[in-house]
Amino acid sequence: MHRAVSRSLLNDWSPVVTSLNALKCSKCRAAVVWGGARGYSLLPPSPDRAEKAMLDRMLRVDHAGEYGANRIYAGQMAVLRRTQSGPLIQHMWDQEKSHLQKFNEILAENRVRPTLMLPLWNVAGFVLGASTALLGKEGAMACTVAVEETIAEHYNSQIRALMEADPDRYIELLQLIKEIRDEEMEHHDTGLEQDAESAPGYWLMKILIQAGCKAAICVSERV
Ligand SMILES: [Fe+2]
Ligand SMILES: [Fe+2]
Repeated sequence: MHRAVSRSLLNDWSPVVTSLNALKCSKCRAAVVWGGARGYSLLPPSPDRAEKAMLDRMLRVDHAGEYGANRIYAGQMAVLRRTQSGPLIQHMWDQEKSHLQKFNEILAENRVRPTLMLPLWNVAGFVLGASTALLGKEGAMACTVAVEETIAEHYNSQIRALMEADPDRYIELLQLIKEIRDEEMEHHDTGLEQDAESAPGYWLMKILIQAGCKAAICVSERV
């Protein structure tokens, strides 16, 4: 497990760095804008600074959340990889990898820096995933239920904010967030189906994990 933890912590920065580098011209190092004739792939340029700041906060915290989710599933897999739950957790982790990749690309294209808290979320996410998995499959699933419920609520509040701001302008971002929100809810429901509520201290664990997630969301929007 020690080797798996070390490898996981070291390898985890590469997708962020690769995605950010991929958008630089190899000769002049200038940013390359993709998306063809319209000049963007998903998010149109912001009409004013206040809206740009709002979007930057949203994208930064979404990226941080997906990054943290990846670390949690990595921690769970370090403990439960060879159990019956391994393939199911791997499936959810694969979906989280795809979510993170999307936000890596969006951050790079829109020149939004990731939160400075990533090194902490790297370790904290892994420790949370591994420690709850050490309680057994039910512990891991209780963690999944707590985290995914908070993330789905967070995405719902973003959907409301974007609908209030300009639903036509943000139609593609809204679509992406809704798709990801639906997969987070699938993870939540999977956790319940897999006996999350049988975990020792389920309700206390859920309250504590959700408080931690909300604090992490609050910090990641600002720092
Ligand atoms: Fe996700
Ligand atoms: Fe998820």
